[in-house]
Amino acid sequence: MSNKTREPMKPLDAEEFRKQRRLMVTWGVTLLVLFPLLIGLGLFMRLNQGELVHLQPNTFYAIMTLHGLGMAGLLFSFALGGLHFLVGTRFARTSVKVGYFVFIGVVVGVIGLVVATLIGGFAAGWYLLYPLPFKGTSWPEWSSGLTFISLLILGVVWLVGCVHIVRALSLEYGGFFQLMGWRYLGNKEPEEELPPIALISVVSLVPGILAFLAGAVFLIMFLFQLFEPSLEFNPLMMKNILFFFGHTLVNITIYCAVGWVYTLFPEFTGRAWKLTKVTVIAWNATFLFILFAYFHHLYMDFAQPISIQYAGQLASYMSAVPATAVTIFGVIAQLYHSKIKWGVIPLSFFLGAVGWAIGGIAAVVDSTIAVNKVLHNTLWVPAHFHTYMLMGVVLFILGFLYYLTAPQSGKEGGPKAGWAFWTFVTGSYGFLLMFYLGGMNSIPRRFAEYSTMGISSSHEIGALLARLAVFFVVLVLLGIITMGISIFIRLMRWVVTDATSTESSA
Ligand code: HEM
Repeated sequence: MSNKTREPMKPLDAEEFRKQRRLMVTWGVTLLVLFPLLIGLGLFMRLNQGELVHLQPNTFYAIMTLHGLGMAGLLFSFALGGLHFLVGTRFARTSVKVGYFVFIGVVVGVIGLVVATLIGGFAAGWYLLYPLPFKGTSWPEWSSGLTFISLLILGVVWLVGCVHIVRALSLEYGGFFQLMGWRYLGNKEPEEELPPIALISVVSLVPGILAFLAGAVFLIMFLFQLFEPSLEFNPLMMKNILFFFGHTLVNITIYCAVGWVYTLFPEFTGRAWKLTKVTVIAWNATFLFILFAYFHHLYMDFAQPISIQYAGQLASYMSAVPATAVTIFGVIAQLYHSKIKWGVIPLSFFLGAVGWAIGGIAAVVDSTIAVNKVLHNTLWVPAHFHTYMLMGVVLFILGFLYYLTAPQSGKEGGPKAGWAFWTFVTGSYGFLLMFYLGGMNSIPRRFAEYSTMGISSSHEIGALLARLAVFFVVLVLLGIITMGISIFIRLMRWVVTDATSTESSA
């Protein structure tokens, strides 16, 4: 290990910075267009569950598949794009070409998924539960094939994106072991500081790389079986691989976004947010246990060895609790007696951390075996993951997009949080509450029509909650579309200013 003090990264020249920002703007506009459309699919599902419209069951499940894959994929892609930008403009050299390669791959993958689900009718859900896509399906074989290939394309470009950022940081900070922050574990203060975003990126992206490799293996096995139907794989093994991939993807989406918060929030509180021994231990715990936390998805698979079930409960606690606790504590320490001005940017980051904590607690509750026996596959599950995605990751993204378009207003907190922001937050929590109440009333998840349950009280409660949720989803859409238009105008203004300044300097 070198004892020399590392030189900070040389600032990017104006041209390179402009290219990075253009790429970031491309991601921003894509998100602003796709996100409301995907919410629209969610609205249709709740309308159907509330018996206000009638969708054919296969249409419902095709919509659910596109919504689930689309949301998870879009938010992760944006989180990766955001990290690429933030790391690349402040901490280490990332390549704009690689960034566009990832972007184009994502666009191709998304088009494939849209065609496979909305035209081909592929409806196996995001997790493609094996052997579901091969047995008695209502959709043609080509749409299964197109889904597997599209997901494979997404997995490969995400893999490239993750490897690229980890490599860039490794080159800048002296390798993987330095990035894990182990020099903070001794009794002496480390001679060189490591920015928290560097540690959090590695803690997120290295497990991501393993998960995408596993996902690629899984999808290639699916393709083999598609071409050679006599092949069969062990369903329990397939489920293990799939949840390793899916669970890790969603987890690291949050962590990538948390990395921005560690970097940008201090600009509003005026206080540095540095790594300490405790933060390093907490994030190292996440690194170690995140790989095994997915076991909690298999509690109901009784063929899974019992020791793994217990390990799954412990890993779920250990991967989530320490990192969340140090981050929430960090946010409180940032705010305590600070003179923060509550514009929309710090507010989004703060409320995002709150949403992450609420959803995280609901998830940890559900990952407890004794509780999972009751809540498994009820609406409690979508309740918790929608909480940390919608009121965690999406708020972090909004804060980030506002920051991007108003970086100078840093200390002022950016624009005021107007009615659109509060409509979005109120609508989201109302929508989430209906999921939680559904879970507490044992309403099953992934049910197109509650009338088919054959239990009239559950049918009535489920449909009523879905109808109430519709009202809140409309508020969510109103809020996000209004904010989206205002962010879009800001992004375009920046592009125009950029073009003018490039022309005049040429
Ligand atoms: C207001 C916005 C949203 C609405 C109205 C909405 C609505 C829904 C509904 C009704 C379901 C089906 C629940 C069930 O009965 O099992 C669902 C599932 C799902 N949603 Fe959302 N959602 C929203 C936002 C999000 C976000 C931000 C994500 C980000 C990851 C997301 C990811 C998913 C996933 C992964 C599923 C599960 C799909 C499956 O089981 O195959 N949703 N959503």
